[in-house]
Order: sequence, then structure tokens, then C-alpha cells
Amino acid sequence: MNRRNFIKTTAAASLAAGAAARALAAQQQAAASSPDPRFASNLVPTDRKIRLAVVGVGGRGQSHVKGHFEAGAELVAFCDVDAARAAESFALFPKVPRFRDYRQMLDQMGDKIDALSICTPDHMHYPIAILAINRGKHVYLEKPLTHTVAECRALKKAALRAGVVTQMGNQGHANNGCRLVKEWIAAGLLGKISEVHAFTNRPIWPQGLALKKSEKPPETLDWNLWQGVADEREFSPGIVPFNWRGYWEYGCGAFGDMACHILDGAFFALDLRGNCKVSAKVDADPSYAVTAPKGSTVIYDFPARGDRGPLKLYWYDGSHRPPVPPELGPDAKIGRNGCFIRGEKGIIIDQSTYWNEPRLYPVELNKRRAEIPQSIRRIPGGNQWREFLDAIHGVGPAPGSNFVDHAADLTEMTHLGNIAIRAGRAIEWDAEKAVCVNDPAATRFVTKAYRKF
Ligand SMILES: NC(=O)c1ccc[n+]([C@@H]2O[C@H](COP(=O)([O-])OP(=O)(O)OC[C@H]3O[C@@H](n4cnc5c(N)ncnc54)[C@H](O)[C@@H]3O)[C@@H](O)[C@H]2O)c1
Repeated sequence: MNRRNFIKTTAAASLAAGAAARALAAQQQAAASSPDPRFASNLVPTDRKIRLAVVGVGGRGQSHVKGHFEAGAELVAFCDVDAARAAESFALFPKVPRFRDYRQMLDQMGDKIDALSICTPDHMHYPIAILAINRGKHVYLEKPLTHTVAECRALKKAALRAGVVTQMGNQGHANNGCRLVKEWIAAGLLGKISEVHAFTNRPIWPQGLALKKSEKPPETLDWNLWQGVADEREFSPGIVPFNWRGYWEYGCGAFGDMACHILDGAFFALDLRGNCKVSAKVDADPSYAVTAPKGSTVIYDFPARGDRGPLKLYWYDGSHRPPVPPELGPDAKIGRNGCFIRGEKGIIIDQSTYWNEPRLYPVELNKRRAEIPQSIRRIPGGNQWREFLDAIHGVGPAPGSNFVDHAADLTEMTHLGNIAIRAGRAIEWDAEKAVCVNDPAATRFVTKAYRKF
């Protein structure tokens, strides 16, 4: 090519690249302020506040109350089964009507509520969310989205059918880190990905224990409503509040509690859906029928899917830890929670739990990352409350961690690890049929029985 042609071709290429970048920016701007046509039922005009009810206002629920309020929602109802645990939120907003039973709240105030934010223990996520969605309410629901795989699938269908805005409370999904990691991997920065390692110091609550002796529940707690759809049993201290996480009947153990945060970036970047094999090594303990183990290593084998090749995912909790990546240096130590994604050219390490700080090794890879254009929309300030409310006002797209596109599938993937832990054998998962093909007995953990209460 002669010099003149070279200059002509280069100028044409850079014009084309400029036009493509401008088109992408215009597309992103339009997408950033448009409602998603799939989730456009019961949108709230911008000249009125979104009327929001919070179910479960103690514990993590206090952040829901403050987060939605500060993001501009009008708090119109609180529901909690334990007046003591709810006391701080009640004191902060003394005029907001209070309920103990979410069904009564929806029956009495249904036409005055646009959206629910649900922050109860895991076993009650689905019953509350499905009722709300079927009544046309927008739903923000804590992680893990559900207690079983069957519930994930049912919520996904219901949200699409109702056309409402949904979001799971894995707040890190609104951070830039998750998006950067997906862009880097899609651009081939790490080459072919072979392994993911994710770890947590949880459980920081009792697991691998039998239930304590029964006693009378505290006066402030409605134990029947707290149990909800779970099998009825006498009250036992050490379950309520918070520690229910370790009991299969109410929670999803250390894995279920943390994986929707710690594995979020890897799931988002690598599309960890579909058929897979899952096995688990657990600290042996006879109480496992009742609680999750004190520690576990769970190993997933994912076959090739879309643009990525086959890969292995390792999850470690309790005292189980991953090998320290040699790229970090000879004396390096790893923190309490984190995730490594290993490819043929290097690794990404995030040790923030919420994908705030993904780092590239070897550090030379950082030179190339500057060349990778932004292709995924960012959430201003990483504010997931606003992201939810903007979508309900129709001035923003569907939240990134909406049930249909992301949250239900991410949570389902984490439930498979717990099925392998509880089955005590490796499982071969058929995603289309939702069965463990090699172990029909393990398929029983895909769903559960529901008590009428
Ligand atoms: N996203 C995060 O960073 C984060 C952090 C902590 C907890 N969580 C999630 O939040 C949820 C709650 O966890 P927690 O530690 O706050 O639990 P918790 O035991 O403190 O319960 C939360 C509140 O819900 C109330 N509650 C329980 N059952 C209820 C029911 N049926 N109806 C109405 N209220 C009910 C409790 O009384 C309490 O006030 C869980 O799903 C957990 O995984 C998320």
C-alpha cells in the first residue's frame, strides 16, 4: 500500500471507528433512559413518588428502609413479625402503618402500594414475592433470590408474565467492577478461561450443629408467621434472628448466603448457566440433614457454552481455602472473601466481595485494558435502589440484576452446589428438565413442601 492509500484507509477506518463509538454512545444514552418494554406494567409517573412497602424491616431490612427512602420512594407500609427486631425502623418512621402478616398488608393496602422490598429470611422470599408479583407489584428481593431451584424458575416466569420491574439485592451488581470484568473477558484480555475460584470466611454463624432445646418464643415474635411455609416446630433459640442461615429449612448455608455476591462477576462474565456436573467435599458431621456443613469445597464442571470453552469453578467456605495464586507473589496471603478468574494470559482477582476492586495480573495486562471500549451501561454511583426506582418511573432500563435476565439463573446456579452438598454425591444437572440425571433422589432438593399457615 502506498503512503497516500495508507493515509486514506487509516482515516476512513478512524472515521468509521468514531461513528461506531458515537452510535454506541447514542444507543447507550437512549437505553439508559428508556423503560424495558418487557417490564412496563404499572409504571409510576415521574410526578408522583413510588409508594413502597418493606417486608422485614429489621437486620438488613434497615438498609432497605433507608436506601429506598433516600433514593426518593415514599414509605407507605412496614411489615415485620418481630417488633423487637423491627424497632429501629419503626422508631425512624413512626407514622408508617405497621403489619405483621404480609397477606393482610396486601389485602388492606394493595391499591396504595406500587412496589415491595422484601428482606425476610430466605425460606419466605418466594411466597411473599410471588403474591406481590401476581398482584402487579414491582419487587426488590434480597439475595439469594429463593430457597429452591423450582422457586427461581417460577419467579422468573411470573415476573415476565406480570411485566413488573424486579431486582435482587446483590448490590454489587450495580458496581462498575462486574461490568469491567465482563468487558475485559469478552475482549479476550485473559485469553481462554479455564478456572474460577471463589471463597468466603462464612459461616460466621453456627453450622454443623443440632438444634438447641426448645423454649418459649419471645413475646415480641410471632413464631407461626416467622416459620411461614416451613414445617412447624417448637421455637428454639439460636435460629432467630440471623442464625437461621445455617438451617436448611430456612436458609441456604454459607454458600447460598454469599455466592450471589462473590460469584456474581464470574457468572455475569462467563454465562455459567446450563448443564453441568457438581460435586462437594464437606466437613463430615451427622447433623447435615438439619444444617449446612461447617465447611465445604464445591466443584462445578461447566462444558463449553457460547464463546467460552469448558471450565471448572471451585467454591470454598469455612476453613476451606483456595490455593494462593502464584501471580500474587511468593508471600502473598488472600483475604476473607474473593474470587479469581484464571485465563491462559493471566488472572482477575476481586477480594471486595461485591466486585468493587477487580485487579489484573500480571500487571502488564493493565496497559491493554485501557484500549477496551465500554460496552455495558454503568449505574450512577452504583446505586441499586435508584436503579430499581428509575425503572419503575420508566426513566431507566430494567435493573441489571432483574429476576428474568440475571438473578434467577445466578441463584439457581448456586442452589446446585447445595444440592450436591445435601445429596452427598456428585450430580449431573440437566438444566432443561431441571433434574439430576444420575441421581433421581437428589432431584427432590429442586423443590420443597409448603405448609399452610
Ligand atoms: N445484600 C446484602 O448485603 C445482605 C446483607 C445481609 C442480609 N441479606 C439478606 O437479607 C435477608 C434478611 O437477613 P437478616 O440477616 O436481616 O435476617 P433477620 O433474621 O434479621 O430478618 C430480617 C427481618 O425480617 C423479619 N421477618 C422475618 N420473617 C418475616 C416475615 N415472614 N414477614 C415479615 N418480616 C419477617 C425479622 O423479624 C427481621 O426484622 C436475607 O435474605 C439475607 O440473605 C442481604
